[in-house]
Amino acid sequence: MILKIVQAGHPALRQQARPLTVDEIRGPQVQQLIEMMRETMRDAPGVGLAAPQVGLPLQLAVIEDPPEYLAHLSPQALAERQREPVPFHVIVNPHMRLVDGPTADFYEGCLSVAGYSALVRRALAVEVEALNERGEPVRIAARGWYARILQHEIDHLGGHLYIDRMDTRTFATSENLGRWGR
Ligand code: CO
Repeated sequence: MILKIVQAGHPALRQQARPLTVDEIRGPQVQQLIEMMRETMRDAPGVGLAAPQVGLPLQLAVIEDPPEYLAHLSPQALAERQREPVPFHVIVNPHMRLVDGPTADFYEGCLSVAGYSALVRRALAVEVEALNERGEPVRIAARGWYARILQHEIDHLGGHLYIDRMDTRTFATSENLGRWGR
């Protein structure tokens, strides 16, 4: 089942999401929600979807950057972004640490700010501690584009959107970005 993705202005996008208990994670409602969020993310399509984006202020996000999405990008674009395939996975109640070091500026969009992009400066590396879809603790060390996805999705769980962090003068419709370049 495809869920409705809410747009900027919906209060769920601006709340601090609440953590889930291990029992809740393992329960049928959250398991079904994960399945529906996976379908919704693939349908959009997107590389991440946080529960607040479907109107639920819960600390839960799904992430996937499959090889098909990288196929249309040039080797140079992939290398610049340090973008590599990321298999489907779930993060719950994440805690993130930005690793000191260089940052990267790239255009970023969001399914909840549909049709726009802007330059956003992000850390190039992060470490995340979270629970997986079985309620088990996981540690993730991520670099490059995957680190950007994690920062974007974990921002959603704190009520933040990329537009809070963007270089405002680069804000553009996706159509104009394609037409006029970067
Ligand atoms: Co988003």
